[in-house]
Amino acid sequence: MDQLTITDERTGKTYKLPIVDGTIRALDLRQIRVDDKDFGLMAYDPAFMNTASCRSSVTYLDGDAGILRYRGYPIEQLAEKCTYLEVAWLLLFGELPNKQQLDGWEKEVGHHTLIHENVKQIIDAFRYDAHPMGILIGVCAALSTLYKDASDVKSAQLRRLQMVRLIGKMPTIAAFAYRHSLGQRVTYPDNRASYTGNFLKMLFDVGGDWQSHPVLERALEILFILHADHEQNCSTNAMRAVTSSQVDPFSGVAAATAALYGPLHGGANEAVLKMLAEIGSVAKVPEFIKSVKAGERRLMGFGHRVYKNYDPRARIIKECAYKVFEVTGKNPLLEIALELERIALQDAYFVDRKLYPNVDFYSGLIYQAMGFPTEMFPVLFAIPRTAGWLAQWDEQTRDPETKIARPRQIYCGAAKRDVPPLVGRG
Ligand code: ACO
Repeated sequence: MDQLTITDERTGKTYKLPIVDGTIRALDLRQIRVDDKDFGLMAYDPAFMNTASCRSSVTYLDGDAGILRYRGYPIEQLAEKCTYLEVAWLLLFGELPNKQQLDGWEKEVGHHTLIHENVKQIIDAFRYDAHPMGILIGVCAALSTLYKDASDVKSAQLRRLQMVRLIGKMPTIAAFAYRHSLGQRVTYPDNRASYTGNFLKMLFDVGGDWQSHPVLERALEILFILHADHEQNCSTNAMRAVTSSQVDPFSGVAAATAALYGPLHGGANEAVLKMLAEIGSVAKVPEFIKSVKAGERRLMGFGHRVYKNYDPRARIIKECAYKVFEVTGKNPLLEIALELERIALQDAYFVDRKLYPNVDFYSGLIYQAMGFPTEMFPVLFAIPRTAGWLAQWDEQTRDPETKIARPRQIYCGAAKRDVPPLVGRG
């Protein structure tokens, strides 16, 4: 067995820690003590930069090589050959569905697209200009009050039921939230349409005769596939941490959606659009790059914590963008984006720091061309990521090593002191 030998220079003692799957168990460090009163050595790792928090067989990611696979299948092949619901099944149940399973799954999800009228009333109660992510978070949490069986997280059968409910209802909640912001009557789900076709219809159909364009429907399908999971990212970590208390998955998805709402996670594509609009023209790109290199600003949509080669999703999205623009007409910001990318990819500043376009560099341009307002961008991320969150939740619930998430801390506060009387406190 591979081992790590550690000598504690405080005591001169030597320890041998087993190395399994390229990791040592953090708890094995606990035996390293100065004396019997010592709590034992801990690892300090804010933001879990070098800590594996779980074992997972859902998504494989190699940031240096630019590889992303769901259940072993390369993202490029899934984006080319599958529908979003096929990929959701793959993430949730581990294998691609056969034809019969897929037909049944589409029907099953379609059966759960409606939301209770009470939930619609909750959406109606939000102010007209409420952010749709805020509505999504609130409504997901509210669903737990309707589906009381969701608290039985030990039952595999009930877990499956909540997964279908959430995957079915997320587009409906999102579309109803959008229509609420417009002050428009909602369009109810049409289960004859595809998952994305139905979603587009609920968003944009007002008179009853609206048809989605097949190219745009497919583009959204591809974007949904690309966003379906990304191993232990911020929102997935939130899903795992929150549901480790065995709370129901509706509350868990509300928490994960809240994590996704933050600009460092689900909001970067909106920032890319703002940046492109601010640059304003191709002629101003060199000046902008100069300010980035001077450290005055960041080139939004570039760089990634994990991908230090290229983000494989960005390549697929770029191709997708061209197909969408053939239908919608070119987004006027595209030329600026292309010029930024061209210069950045040959500039030593970006090359040396391994900064490449990420998934957000082009996705905002596509969404804007398709007619989505910017507040809907993080919602368009949350809908497909629900499959990933649920796959990781189900895996965690079945994992015998799962315990309630409870990190340690290094206490840096005051030493023990006595409470002084109120009068006379500074
Ligand atoms: N533009 C200019 N310089 C950058 C950028 C950027 N977008 N990203 C990183 N750098 C530079 C940093 O200034 C730093 O330079 P230095 O070594 O001279 O100090 C170096 O590259 C390393 O940067 P870090 O911030 O340490 O990299 P980290 O891995 O922590 O950050 C992040 C990753 C947050 C994504 C960063 O690249 C960034 O802010 N990008 C822009 C925002 C963005 O597009 N986010 C979307 C990410 S994808 C997603 O969440 C779905």
